[in-house]
Amino acid sequence: MDQGGIPTYVIRGGAPGRERLRALARLMAPTTDALFDRIGIAADARCLDVGCGGGDVTVALARRARDGRVLGTDLDDTQLDLARGEAATAGLANVAYRVSDVMTPPSRDDLGAYDVVYVRFLLTHLPDPDGALANITAQLASGGVLILEDIDFRGHFCDPDVPSFWKMVDWYTRAVQARGCDPNIGPRLPGMLRRGACTTWFERSPRSRARICGTHGRRLTRTTSRPSASR
Ligand SMILES: C[S@@+](CC[C@H](N)C(=O)[O-])C[C@H]1O[C@@H](n2cnc3c(N)ncnc32)[C@H](O)[C@@H]1O
Repeated sequence: MDQGGIPTYVIRGGAPGRERLRALARLMAPTTDALFDRIGIAADARCLDVGCGGGDVTVALARRARDGRVLGTDLDDTQLDLARGEAATAGLANVAYRVSDVMTPPSRDDLGAYDVVYVRFLLTHLPDPDGALANITAQLASGGVLILEDIDFRGHFCDPDVPSFWKMVDWYTRAVQARGCDPNIGPRLPGMLRRGACTTWFERSPRSRARICGTHGRRLTRTTSRPSASR
């Protein structure tokens, strides 16, 4: 799918986008893997990777949920085709991909169907992240875990200072905001989970953990939430 296919998504998708996401995944792998280690992904877990792009984390989940299954969903059918090919080459039989808009309410079959729902760098690209979160959490099984990772673009640094670097930060920030989205959504994630769309899911003494950490010049928020019955 070309860029025009996802009106709010400011970054190029398709095959070039796949390579960009591959680089991003390499950068993120140590901390995302550590996060999965801490949370613990059961071998038989049913996992969903929403806005999975080229499927890097989908595959990482599939290697952990080796007796379970993982579905990656995205609007970018080109990236999903590439991801299917990569999963087949890797011999992963427990991975599937589906074109799906996170803003569309889930089908009956997907309601409460996943033990682990993972969402990275998607909510920042959506004008209605709370609406998306409602659709996402509706797919979480009782006792399941929702894992969000997203960005705070204000966290950049540059040493030595280069004016063009700050121009890039400013342009990106304004391009995302012009589409009604939030390039600094990271710190809002815990509050979003506590309020609004997630209330129904987490009103029973939610357990949620959040931390904000620096990563390669961008601040990143990771949030996980479980209904209290899970532990
Ligand atoms: C920055 S990429 C992150 C991809 C992946 N989560 C990762 O971390 O490698 C954002 C992804 O969200 C997808 N996306 C944007 N809007 C979407 C929507 N409304 N529904 C589903 N996916 C969407 C884009 O196609 C893109 O693949």
